[in-house]
Amino acid sequence: MSPDDEQDRWIAPPDGQIMGHPKALWMLFSAEFWERFCFYGMRAILGPYVAVTFFAHLGDQADAQASLTYGGYTAMVYMTGILGGYVADRVLGYQRSIMLGGAMMAVGMFMLLAPDLTTFLLGLGVIVVGNGLFKPNVSSMVGKLYAPGDVRRDSAFTVFYMGINAGAFFAPIVCGTVIGAVFGFKWGFFTAGIGMLLGMLVFQLLKAWLGRVGTAPAGKTGFSPFVRVIGGYALLLAPTYFLLSHSDWLGYLLLVMMAGLVAYFVYSGSRADKVQLQRYIAMLILFAANSAFWAMFEQAGSSLNFFARDYVNLDLGFGEVNFTIFQSANAIFIVTLAPVFAAMWPKLDKIGLNPSIPRKFALGLLGVAVGFYALVFAIEFMQDDAGKVPAMMLLLCYLIHTMGEICLSPIGLSMVTKLAKPREVGLAMGGWFLSVAMGNYTAGLIAAVAAGGGEGAGETAGSIAQYGDVFNQLFLTGIVFAAAFFVVSPLVNRLMHGVK
Ligand code: PHE
Ligand code: ALA
Repeated sequence: MSPDDEQDRWIAPPDGQIMGHPKALWMLFSAEFWERFCFYGMRAILGPYVAVTFFAHLGDQADAQASLTYGGYTAMVYMTGILGGYVADRVLGYQRSIMLGGAMMAVGMFMLLAPDLTTFLLGLGVIVVGNGLFKPNVSSMVGKLYAPGDVRRDSAFTVFYMGINAGAFFAPIVCGTVIGAVFGFKWGFFTAGIGMLLGMLVFQLLKAWLGRVGTAPAGKTGFSPFVRVIGGYALLLAPTYFLLSHSDWLGYLLLVMMAGLVAYFVYSGSRADKVQLQRYIAMLILFAANSAFWAMFEQAGSSLNFFARDYVNLDLGFGEVNFTIFQSANAIFIVTLAPVFAAMWPKLDKIGLNPSIPRKFALGLLGVAVGFYALVFAIEFMQDDAGKVPAMMLLLCYLIHTMGEICLSPIGLSMVTKLAKPREVGLAMGGWFLSVAMGNYTAGLIAAVAAGGGEGAGETAGSIAQYGDVFNQLFLTGIVFAAAFFVVSPLVNRLMHGVK
């Protein structure tokens, strides 16, 4: 599609602005705030809840099994986005896809209140497919509000990113620390579900602000596409449930999908020209770094959550807090630091010191590695008489992790859109999320060793020494990855042929 066509096909949102942006941006911001509130609220309590509710009979392996469930679930959440994008583009339109996805997420949340594992896992499955309909589509809608070339687009995504993290900040406090810790984690899921309903309410009430942006494609209005999509997703629930309860199969599936994607991009690149082939190779190398990053970073909701519960001194001076409060740390650091980094890159650029994209990936890996060292150090030197480490050190770990995240995560998607052939941007984005999914899956495997102790792991299962061993290995492996990436980044940069 030529830029002119794009200009012609662009549908403007209705007039009216708030703070220099179309009013609809603020509506999408609020809807996404609540959706992320819902998602991160449940995420903050998922692992600990599953461990005591469903896996207590496994004794010292309960946390390990819960980590696997958690890893499988968070991986699958990122696999269904491709499908959700397709449904929005071709079948339902964006507005209806978002509403349907939100409804599914809310239903899934309420299913988590059930006392049996089967209903619980089905609930997770409903959230997985619902999230795929909501999250990627609401992000695409942000982009759709601006004409091609509109300079406000970047700042719109920054605003949106703040909405995400504001939701992710309040959620663990409300669903975990306040409601969950007092009334039981089950009611945290309930609160998360209420949050999603509020998001849908905002979306529905202020829909007029979107005008014709994201309405159903021609010929697809009416009820029947709706019924077909719901039917399709109902069929999908069975394999989703299967994969959630057999996480080893999920691992194989991810590997097969990734192998297929690698083969496809190499083939597609080689059919074009040398530049495109090399760009695809660069993209795939960055996918690998991305998987490695999330595999380490996503200890957050699993092993780091268990670690906070068992081995962090929760008496912060003004009284004891619930461990779930630390699940808010990442988001508050993002809200405060992302603007600092965003202002810093152009300044560095002026003096010729702005790191290239591959170098930023190396910095991301460095951050996630060094963050673990804060805990390794605390475990080694700072344990109190009760065998606990100061909360400050866990916060420091999250702070350094977050700095790494800011170097790597926000540039990922835009990098992909620039490296892919225009016609294959959608597939490349799917690949990016698949690499995030791989990372999340691997994170679950690692957390299972940290929280349970694999065979021959040396230390007693669930002991602080076992956590220390695994965090130390993550630190060392992360440093090796970061260093390797730092060294090869000029080469990767050359493969990108001028994409910045
Ligand atoms: N943490 C952010 C979010 O929840 C961004 C993100 C999403 C990063 C998916 C990686 C993968 O929206
Ligand atoms: N840090 C997670 C995502 O940004 C919540 O943005």
